Amino acid sequence: MKFSPLKYSFIITLLFLIIGCNSKEAKSISSNEKDVIDIKVDSILKLMTLDEKIGQMNQYNGFWEITGPVPKEGQAAKKYEDLKKGLVGSMLNVKGAKEVYALQKIAVEETRLGIPLLFGFDVIHGYKTISPIPLAEAASWDLKAIKESAEIAAEEASAVGINWTFAPMVDISRDARWGRVMEGAGEDPFLGSRIAEARIKGFQGDDLSSKKTVLACAKHFAGYGFAESGRDYNTVDISEHTLQNIILPPFKASVDAGVRTFMNSFNDLNGVPATGNKMLQREILKGDWQFNGFVVSDWGSINEMIAHGFAKDSKNAAEIAINAGSDMDMESYAYIENLKELVEDGKVKEADIEDATRRILRTKYELGLFDNPYKYCDEVYEKETVGKKEFHEGVLDMAKKSIVLLKNENNLLPLVKSGKKIALIGALANDKTSPLGSWRIGADDESAVSVLEGMKAYEGNQLTYSKGADVTTGRTQFMWETKINTTDKSEFSKAVEVARKADVVIMVLGEHGLQTGEGRSRTELGLPGVQQELLEAVFKVNKNIVLVLNNGRPLAIPWAKENIPAIVEAWHLGTQSGNAIAQVLYGDYNPSGKLPMTFPRNVGQVPIYYNYKNTGRPIMNEPESVFWSHYIDEKNTPLFAFGHGLSYSKFEYSKLSLNKENFNATENIEVSITLKNNSNVKGKEVVQLYIRDLIASYTRPVKELKAFELVELNPQESKVITFKVDEKMLEFYTANHKWEAESGEFKVFVGGSSDVTMEGSFEFIKK
Ligand code: BGC
Repeated sequence: MKFSPLKYSFIITLLFLIIGCNSKEAKSISSNEKDVIDIKVDSILKLMTLDEKIGQMNQYNGFWEITGPVPKEGQAAKKYEDLKKGLVGSMLNVKGAKEVYALQKIAVEETRLGIPLLFGFDVIHGYKTISPIPLAEAASWDLKAIKESAEIAAEEASAVGINWTFAPMVDISRDARWGRVMEGAGEDPFLGSRIAEARIKGFQGDDLSSKKTVLACAKHFAGYGFAESGRDYNTVDISEHTLQNIILPPFKASVDAGVRTFMNSFNDLNGVPATGNKMLQREILKGDWQFNGFVVSDWGSINEMIAHGFAKDSKNAAEIAINAGSDMDMESYAYIENLKELVEDGKVKEADIEDATRRILRTKYELGLFDNPYKYCDEVYEKETVGKKEFHEGVLDMAKKSIVLLKNENNLLPLVKSGKKIALIGALANDKTSPLGSWRIGADDESAVSVLEGMKAYEGNQLTYSKGADVTTGRTQFMWETKINTTDKSEFSKAVEVARKADVVIMVLGEHGLQTGEGRSRTELGLPGVQQELLEAVFKVNKNIVLVLNNGRPLAIPWAKENIPAIVEAWHLGTQSGNAIAQVLYGDYNPSGKLPMTFPRNVGQVPIYYNYKNTGRPIMNEPESVFWSHYIDEKNTPLFAFGHGLSYSKFEYSKLSLNKENFNATENIEVSITLKNNSNVKGKEVVQLYIRDLIASYTRPVKELKAFELVELNPQESKVITFKVDEKMLEFYTANHKWEAESGEFKVFVGGSSDVTMEGSFEFIKK
């Protein structure tokens, strides 16, 4: 074996470990262990040349199928040479235990120091066994289920060699036009924070050195979800107030939950690209929040600062990015090509390079890669693990929990199980790829259970399928393809005939999975293509329609809300989509999802969100004069409110009470309500608590979610639900430019949706 100083340094640190560390210490990283890691990292840093340190900060996209010929020329050959020289710290988009092993072997055995690589991948909602899109999972408001879903994703992904996922995306967004709302947890900073924590804990577990856990990555830091006009990558111009109160909380929660990496973002924020934003990365993240993991750029975002008009060339971009605190360069080649010279020119401090390298090496230690660089590369284990039965059961459970019953007139749902003629209409009902969404690089096309397949499992009814119309033209297989809506109505009449003869019509309409996600912003929020016309044509012959929506963003479907008796929000639910939908439609699962994002009536209302400001001319339902904050052609209210979602149970709220009238910083106040399940069906309800700070140093939203609880009740059961409100829940970023609560009057609301009206009030006295 080649001499490796690094391997020699292990012996020293091993000795240190034996002498200095109690072996009975807990598995999760204790402060003692952290110190040990610091010492180990320092011992390696001492051995590293400047080139090698910069190499750790360099991330390349997978460039070579190792089973194929060795790249001889072009970019791939250069990357290969860099890899052998120890000038690569991480790779992305490499998958499969065999591939990862082969590349890791080069890093470990052929480079001077043998430092293992990190392998990153967009495991956004599952690797091969796909769970619901994150927006759908958020609709469950079920933090335990969300955490378990991330655990499945981590276990499956780590079995194919991946040790780092670029998730969760914790960007808050109020704009359904933005295609990436599917990847986040919706519009609310509180819900978004809780979900960020759950997902991070699911991915990373309690022990990063376990074979089943991966590094998580909170992205995109920051403001990406506020792209102007919902157009992806667009400029973001927002106040400090919005940044602090709305955008940053889930990122802060991610740090508090122990996330080990951050990704910055493509957008500029108030004139400064996020990748080159010192205030965000050095002052807030690494300064105020004391984050000691590392920051990776977004794909090519260092060099994109040239197009932003912020850097004159790649060298200048590298200088700006490192000085602003971006530690790793994803695919810009800017660091590897320029950082050394920038240090020599005195434009970049070697200490900053060392700091970035230290952060990266620390994560490698935490993952246990220095003990066993091949721990994620076991082909037998990979075979046993990928696609395990338990994973399918898990994603099915998550999919059912993600479904939101938006409307259910005359108890059209659940369907009876026998003796009926059911018409199933819509191309999406027979689509086995679309439910996987757009982030499913590890999954096979056609691998989802379609609604048609799910419905067929119920044999008591007579089921007839008719497509009616496609959603888009052409192929739908490639992640990077743009989808063109079809105009073809030639199969309408067949579907209308099937519907005419049916007792109930199930129409599966909405967006193809590839019409959502990165780069897929929309200016219209209705049903794409000819689907609205199809819906109306079918409605003319049969009004008993259950509309099942497949979509990655809130849709504006006012006609459907007005006319269609039952509407089920089924998003893009992943591999087990069709089974989950069928089980909900047939009542074998009682839905309990609630919307994590407001549904507009009209795209013109966007951005629309529940935690809006009152204004000086507040919204009235029916303004009597023109000079109110309103539209002359549309209501202000949403089509479906944030937090809305029905159940087959009937939940009734009553008796909101508070245990006192005021409280101070050392106390709390208890807010209680009685929840009754006034039905014969057992069910779950997400009880939501909102507050309103009536007078403050900055104007405050009319409502802010501050707590919620998922409560299960038997038929006719009642339960008193009590929330404790404390000072922390009243904090916001005040005119003093810090997070604090202010004394004053507050309203508190408890109910099953943000349009709750049952309220109480209290006073907070800050001492
Ligand atoms: C996305 C990131 C993603 C990265 C790597 C970018 O285009 O914005 O979210 O993690 O690509 O695939």
